[in-house]
Amino acid sequence: METFDEKLGKTAERLGITIEQIPRHIAIIMDGNGRWAQNRKLPRLEGHRRGGKIVEKTALDGVSLGIESLTLYAFSTENWKRPKAEIKGLMHLYSQYLVGIRPMMMKNNVRLVHIGTIEKLPDKLLRDLSESIEMTAGNSGMVLALALNYGSRIEIVDAAKKIAQQYKDGKLSLEDIDEQCMSDNLYTAGLHDPDLLIRTANEKRISNFLLWQISYSEFYVTETYWPDFGKEDLEKAIVAYANRARRFGSIKTK
Ligand code: IPE
Ligand code: IPE
Ligand code: MG
Repeated sequence: METFDEKLGKTAERLGITIEQIPRHIAIIMDGNGRWAQNRKLPRLEGHRRGGKIVEKTALDGVSLGIESLTLYAFSTENWKRPKAEIKGLMHLYSQYLVGIRPMMMKNNVRLVHIGTIEKLPDKLLRDLSESIEMTAGNSGMVLALALNYGSRIEIVDAAKKIAQQYKDGKLSLEDIDEQCMSDNLYTAGLHDPDLLIRTANEKRISNFLLWQISYSEFYVTETYWPDFGKEDLEKAIVAYANRARRFGSIKTK
């Protein structure tokens, strides 16, 4: 199996950029399934079904490009406001694709992690999710972080509670509470902050996604609806990222 560096070398050459200009962690707000379906006079769920297939394809594209982590926003804590039938259909689809992507993850050394809360998720989905996580736990290639029932504000509230509990138990002092401590208590503990955040379907908002972690991510919006998102779109976003000057508050360009 090729190493990250070998893959990155090939990607850089093909895209005419350097290895250092390739994002290590890409996060995607997968939006536009409903509009994709509406444009075709199809039910919204058909858009979600097609979108599910793109999840697997995009994960494979990430693997072949040499990306270290890919985080995908699949369901927000606010998406419970949708009609019951759509939610039911979505939960069923998530179960299906969590099982369906197992061979792809095992073959390509992908490790699945979940970010979000398990509250309110159906039992069947929770079982499928935890079995896929366990099965891939020993894989050392790309990390696929699935944001399912994820909300950034509740994540920060949960982190504050965990930290308060550790303080109360005498395991932490006030001086220990710093940015690293906060990061370590978020659902994303252990993951690098995203370098590049992509949103499809032309919406220019964050919708409660990774508020803490995207402080210095580069933001890329595409008009493409998620079910039409392909490797060319991903590569276009990477090239756009490569041409950004990340300054992190300083005045140097990279
Ligand atoms: C994204 O597509 C998928 C989820 C949020 C579950 P949408 O369902 O939000 O599609 P639009 O925005 O209505 O087109
Ligand atoms: C954000 O999309 C959540 C996901 C992609 C899972 P939404 O479609 O729910 O976002 P809003 O409601 O347009 O902000
Ligand atoms: Mg939407």
